[in-house]
Amino acid sequence: MKNIHLGIAGFGTVGTGLAKIIEKNADWIEKRIDKKLIIDKILVQNKSKERSFLPSNNPFITDNYKELINDEQIDIIVELMGGKDLAYTLVKEALAAGKHVVTANKYLLAVHGKELFALASTHNVGLFYEASVAGGIPVIKTLRESLTGDKIEHICGILNGTANYILSEMTANGIDFKKALEQAQDLGYAESDPTFDIEGIDTAHKLIVLIRLAFGVDYPLEELPIYGISQITKQDIHFAQELGYTIKLLAHVAETDGKLEAGVFPVLMPSHLLLAKTDSNYNAISITGNAAGAITLHGQGAGDFPTGSAVLADILELAKHMHTQTQPDNTGFNNSPLQDAQMLAPEFATSAYYFRFTVKDKPGVMASLSTCLAKHNISIAQAVQKGKPQDIETPIVFTTHTASTKDIFTALEDIDKHDFILKPTVAYRIF
Ligand SMILES: NC(=O)c1ccc[n+]([C@@H]2O[C@H](COP(=O)([O-])OP(=O)(O)OC[C@H]3O[C@@H](n4cnc5c(N)ncnc54)[C@H](OP(=O)(O)O)[C@@H]3O)[C@@H](O)[C@H]2O)c1
Repeated sequence: MKNIHLGIAGFGTVGTGLAKIIEKNADWIEKRIDKKLIIDKILVQNKSKERSFLPSNNPFITDNYKELINDEQIDIIVELMGGKDLAYTLVKEALAAGKHVVTANKYLLAVHGKELFALASTHNVGLFYEASVAGGIPVIKTLRESLTGDKIEHICGILNGTANYILSEMTANGIDFKKALEQAQDLGYAESDPTFDIEGIDTAHKLIVLIRLAFGVDYPLEELPIYGISQITKQDIHFAQELGYTIKLLAHVAETDGKLEAGVFPVLMPSHLLLAKTDSNYNAISITGNAAGAITLHGQGAGDFPTGSAVLADILELAKHMHTQTQPDNTGFNNSPLQDAQMLAPEFATSAYYFRFTVKDKPGVMASLSTCLAKHNISIAQAVQKGKPQDIETPIVFTTHTASTKDIFTALEDIDKHDFILKPTVAYRIF
């Protein structure tokens, strides 16, 4: 029995969680793979930092990544640093040196995935990444293996726990965005710079990874429409609730006639849907295959043990695979590098919409709004006006039937030119 030797790059939340599970479940792991996992080396930024936990076999701690790459004993490099600078160099060099790599880094895979998967394929090594999307939820394996015979039609998901926590708190407690973000930061859910979480960027990285797995194509991150939640007001949350909807930050991709329509945006979802009921820092993903139908996965999208569990599953799969002659299945598709995606231009996407107009209340406003929307082929599903006679600004809310995004935005451009419109109109998709 040859043991499996690991080099762990990054020993923060996930690295430490992984090492703890490896110790705690050592006997169980041996039963599964008939080998021991040995952590030989750990790469950190600051070697003198006090560590609350270190593996009992006393691994070598280094701040020089070459120590991991050049160590012939190490079978698998586990990248848990994050970012796309040193992580990119390390993963590239590890793959080129013929080492298997496990990573939780969606940012790296969204930006450099095409090149890194091709490199892994050239060197016949594994580049596994179960933890990179939705932490402890096994969505990568589900797409790559369980649904491998299905043509995927549609994926939508709540993939960022911080954004979901903020929206859930705004919905449950009627607080505004700023207060909910402060709460998330106090609880350690949000970074001191929360931009990636609240502006949809982290969700976008994960969506790019899912698109590659589901459709076998590379979708360029810079082409993906990305909207965040920092503009959501408690007024919109409240109107959505009154209309039977919950506001969520959604990653979405659908295939129509060979073209992918994808994006990250806040949407109104009917409140009875499973995804709409995914609260706090949890994640959920709904996948529709042309044979399996719709499947929803729900669970913890982050945290030391849930994420560590997903990383460990990849390590064990590679350990079982090692010393066989078969090529590790990294993307779930044969062709390498993957082709670029055929994309549907965002203006041709269709959706029902929610509008909130802020108007000066005077006779004829409702009629003008309706006429303008009709002129652009948009038909109204519901209209709600909430102002009191003494109000200077009155909110009017419309929901529409399905319309093209192009028509929606031209109509809003027209409407916002009227002198009775006091603020730019707010528009969100209804899902
Ligand atoms: N946290 C989660 O729940 C979660 C969930 C899913 C995916 N992920 C992904 O997992 C990865 C790790 O996240 P994390 O939360 O564990 O991060 P973290 O707690 O910030 O830990 C990062 C680790 O990487 C080390 N590091 C950073 N830059 C380095 C450099 N230039 N050279 C050497 N070491 C460096 C740090 O060293 P020091 O200890 O010396 O500072 C630290 O040990 C990220 O890609 C993240 O997106 C995290």
